[in-house]
Amino acid sequence: MSKLIGPFKEVLTFTKTPQKGALEDDKIGIIQNGGVLVDNEKILEVGDFDQLKSKTSEVEEINGDHILLPGFVDCHTHLVWGGTRARDYTLRMSGESYEKILEQGGGIFDSVEKTRKATPEELKSGLIKRANRHLHDGVTTIEVKSGYGLDVENELKVLEVVKSAMAEIEADLIPTCLAAHVCPKEFKDKKDFLIYLEKELLPQLLVKGLASRIDIFVEPSAFPVEIARDYMSAAKNLGFDLTIHADQFHTGGSQMAVDLGARSADHLEASSQKEIELLAKSDTVAVALPGASLGLGMNFTPTRKLLDAGASVAISTDWNPGSAPMGDLLVQAAILGIYEKMSSAEIFAGMTFRAAHALGLGDRGRIAPEMKADLVAFPFDDYREILYNQGKLKPDMVWKNGNRIKHV
Ligand code: NIG
Ligand code: FE
Repeated sequence: MSKLIGPFKEVLTFTKTPQKGALEDDKIGIIQNGGVLVDNEKILEVGDFDQLKSKTSEVEEINGDHILLPGFVDCHTHLVWGGTRARDYTLRMSGESYEKILEQGGGIFDSVEKTRKATPEELKSGLIKRANRHLHDGVTTIEVKSGYGLDVENELKVLEVVKSAMAEIEADLIPTCLAAHVCPKEFKDKKDFLIYLEKELLPQLLVKGLASRIDIFVEPSAFPVEIARDYMSAAKNLGFDLTIHADQFHTGGSQMAVDLGARSADHLEASSQKEIELLAKSDTVAVALPGASLGLGMNFTPTRKLLDAGASVAISTDWNPGSAPMGDLLVQAAILGIYEKMSSAEIFAGMTFRAAHALGLGDRGRIAPEMKADLVAFPFDDYREILYNQGKLKPDMVWKNGNRIKHV
């Protein structure tokens, strides 16, 4: 039986908001005094609350003083790790560079050591804690990368942890294999390591149903373009979706992402006009990771330029123990918006349907018929209050698949 949720002061629907390019706020598609008719997990109809009332006898009453948005989508996180990197962060505060720390065997390698040592139970409990914090903040779909295992046994361990956590939490987790994060110390040759992953790990992911997406960190300090390309082409031929850590410190990764038809190219802090135009012409979503810029004290992704050129821009946290420990999507999106001069429509699109598109998910991120009933409500009477509060004020109601979540 269907259920009507409302009335809301404003429902920000994004029903017809374009997938690509710059957006004015008049593209949000706002319904005043709105309601959402939900059946099972999906939205049946959205419209004027009083008109929808005739369609069902079951009403989840909201007293008209809230703003409703689609549930947020975080399309780039590394939520499974052991230990902490507080030492790294302190070194970076005193001026040491992220790449230098990595070169000296710290950084990602530090998390690899601690993640390998951790038990699946410890890793799962950390993941569930972080995913529930995200859900509480309105993030109803969360991509989760592996990448601190760096060998077949530990990458499988981490991805099994993600699979097992999925059954225990309400948010959706979308696993991605980032075994090609950096070359582990056991391998002298980066190419040999990628061949090992291609032969020994990727087929197992398919057989065990652990991930349908492959990521790689394309950087001279991780995997240079020339050798990354063969691995990602092989992954594509096996049927995986691709996403790439691209242009964080040096360009090259975004070109590869576009050439290989990757779902997304993420980071892009170093992208120049050439890469911006390339992305704008493609269907590859450009993912800005303001949390990494804040965690490293470096430039933001040039989102204004990307949007003006016509690209689809998503915003994600990159939540990880090293470069982006904060993990607060709304705070980070609001900060990116004020620095990059983005409209509210562009910021919210980047946290909802554009981020869903980066994951190949067309069933969420808009409040429209057939979409998943993933919804967030803020206690305001004007949507502009949300970003004005710079992410400090969170939603006070969250629905996943039409069900109001208990506040955990
Ligand atoms: O997206 N840049 C590469 N990987 C992660 C950071 C991982 C880490 O520092 O542990 C990122 O920023
Ligand atoms: Fe990342």
